[in-house]
Amino acid sequence: MKKTFFPCLVAIFHFVVCAGQKLSTVRQTKSIDQKVDSVLRLMTLDEKIGQMNQYNGDWDATGPITKDGDKQNQIRKGMLGSMLNVTGVEHTRTLQELAMQARLKIPLLFGQDIIHGYRTIFPIPLAEACSWDTAAIRLSARIAATEAAAAGVHWTFAPMVDIARDPRWGRVMEGAGEDAFLGSVIAAARVKGFQGAGFGNVDALMACAKHFAGYGAAIGGRDYNSVDMSERTLLEIYLPPFRAAVDAGAATLMNSFNDLNGIPATANKHLQRDILKGQWKFNGFVVSDWGSIGEMINHGFAKNNYEAALEAVTAGSDMDMESRSYISNLSKLVKEGKVKMQLIDDAVRRILRKKFEMGLFDDPFRFCNKEREQQQWNKSDNLKAEKVVAEKSIVLLKNDPVAGTNGMGLLPLSKQTKAIALIGPFMKAVRDNIGFWSYSWPDDSSRIVTQFQGIQSKVGSNTKLLYAKGCDVNDSSTIGFAEAIDAARQADVVIMSVGEASDWSGEAKSRSNLHLPGMQEELVKLIHALGKPVVVLINSGRPLVFNWTADHVPAILYTWWLGTEAGDAIADVLFGDYNPSGKLPISFPRTEGQIPIYYNYFHTGRPATSDSDRFYRSAYIDLSIYPKFPFGFGLSYTTFAYGDIQLSNNTMRANQSIKATITVTNTGNYEGEETVQLYIQDLVGSVVRPVKELKGFEKIFLTKGQSKQVTFTIDVGKLKFYNAELKYVAEPGEFKIYIGTSSQNVKEVAFTLTQ
Ligand code: BGC
Repeated sequence: MKKTFFPCLVAIFHFVVCAGQKLSTVRQTKSIDQKVDSVLRLMTLDEKIGQMNQYNGDWDATGPITKDGDKQNQIRKGMLGSMLNVTGVEHTRTLQELAMQARLKIPLLFGQDIIHGYRTIFPIPLAEACSWDTAAIRLSARIAATEAAAAGVHWTFAPMVDIARDPRWGRVMEGAGEDAFLGSVIAAARVKGFQGAGFGNVDALMACAKHFAGYGAAIGGRDYNSVDMSERTLLEIYLPPFRAAVDAGAATLMNSFNDLNGIPATANKHLQRDILKGQWKFNGFVVSDWGSIGEMINHGFAKNNYEAALEAVTAGSDMDMESRSYISNLSKLVKEGKVKMQLIDDAVRRILRKKFEMGLFDDPFRFCNKEREQQQWNKSDNLKAEKVVAEKSIVLLKNDPVAGTNGMGLLPLSKQTKAIALIGPFMKAVRDNIGFWSYSWPDDSSRIVTQFQGIQSKVGSNTKLLYAKGCDVNDSSTIGFAEAIDAARQADVVIMSVGEASDWSGEAKSRSNLHLPGMQEELVKLIHALGKPVVVLINSGRPLVFNWTADHVPAILYTWWLGTEAGDAIADVLFGDYNPSGKLPISFPRTEGQIPIYYNYFHTGRPATSDSDRFYRSAYIDLSIYPKFPFGFGLSYTTFAYGDIQLSNNTMRANQSIKATITVTNTGNYEGEETVQLYIQDLVGSVVRPVKELKGFEKIFLTKGQSKQVTFTIDVGKLKFYNAELKYVAEPGEFKIYIGTSSQNVKEVAFTLTQ
């Protein structure tokens, strides 16, 4: 049976494949197009529309497969091009076999949200972004892809590259934070990681950059909400990570639920046809978001699914995820002449091209290898890599000295500490450590390393660990406080693990109140009042508000959701086996009232220069204008001193470049990594320019006392912006270069761009 699939297509391809073997890469690409055309010529209109249709697999008693007889029949009739949420070699094989019963035997594509790992769960993407380490991020995506591809998955709905300046939005956890430059670099790293050495390899997943576009700017941070933004903001802030993903070779894009300036993204010709497929020459395909074509009826943009299908296909949405608008209406729309056959052919070509590139026409079952699935299931190397990425994702927000630390920070703790109290609702939590958008496996409780376990295996047998939960994440009871106080009293040091529940961030998880929920901060206050040194770990999928803790507790680590090895990674940092190096990819507000808050804002006509400068200034009368923790911020157990910036020249022409060099010295007591950040400001522009914009960074490792020079090359590409006519230009004039350890702690120097 397996050897006899698609006999009629085999003959057609034989010639092309054999003829193509000796051709150059370019001609081989062309030969895929020829193959696509050969298939297209054989297809009926209904079969073409089938390729543009994607259904969800229904989780049944045995796993992610569909037992829905109707869906199975539609697969046999060639009415489906793809399914999502079907994984596992056995399940994908079963459904692929149904596809092989269809007239043309066109293989199905299996898509899945592999957002931060499949079997081995990596830190949530926002946490990984704190590493500013593209090699680590790429490796994380590579491992996720290898594990998922071995389980029959062809396509991940990742990376999410939406810029987010609003931590109320629950999906902030899925992206790389607030900055277009950092977001672009990370988008490219993730795409390359997922797609590996290229399609045709059985460990390459097709990437899907999502959600195109503007989704992260949902008004009020409320998921699925409208987006209203200027074209300049769209071009400068929200689109660059998509462009970077496309340039890195992303196979697909997903559009988004929101309307953008009144036009739903799903039916947005400007985004999909003009920019993506036009200017950017994207040759992959666009899948709708779940049901987003049909949801245009709710938007009040389409009267019914018929109109919705017309709008979406015209605008360039190639595949309909789950709304069934295409399968029920496209045929009629074509027959009535409202949708041209070329539009359908273009969409189907794009989809078939990817199926060819993935090698699925050569062997539809090439991702269904039981042995490979087994090999990837429990790879200790993957866990080791996960721990490394998790360590790099942790951000040290505060590390003040306490009595007995000789003026040094409280962290790292000594492994010989006699008694440590471990308190808080996340200390023994299991599944919380892996966060939203991760898979539950039956052996989770033995596989995920809890924070308690991580600490327990780090300290010696002479250290007494005293555990008390203290309170739940979000209840009003203080019944557990007494036990926690009792444990803390007996300890030399207290480690508290607090935060928001792991399913409080993610899709449809917007929050209006970002404070630590329930009684957790009350518990921190009581324990701190005992006079013991307290370290607080904050577990979260977004920046939270915890001012009292930040102002009083000496040591704080922001640990996000770190994945399968969370407990070990946290213990490594707590006890100094890893010196934390994470830097925030997003500003932390003091209260929700500051949102949106981001570092690259525009100067106003009445800028406030400090929090005491409020009189008729752009300020709050009741609140600081500064974030609690700024973009790019993160401490280390060591200290780094920055010299002055040396410029190779203080003028430059548009066809030249200059070099900005700075010396960074490790002046502390530990070896460690530092992320050196380059920001540029255009002092006077034909449109108002941000106070500074990240334009480069380099992560360096320095041993104790070691100095290193870091050099950034500044060319005109780093000075360009969209002018009043939305032309991408660099304007002659004065610029400032800032180099430093965060967006708020920098050295500066000026130079001039001449005509
Ligand atoms: C989400 C997408 C996701 C899709 C499939 C939608 O609700 O917005 O990000 O890829 O579901 O699970």
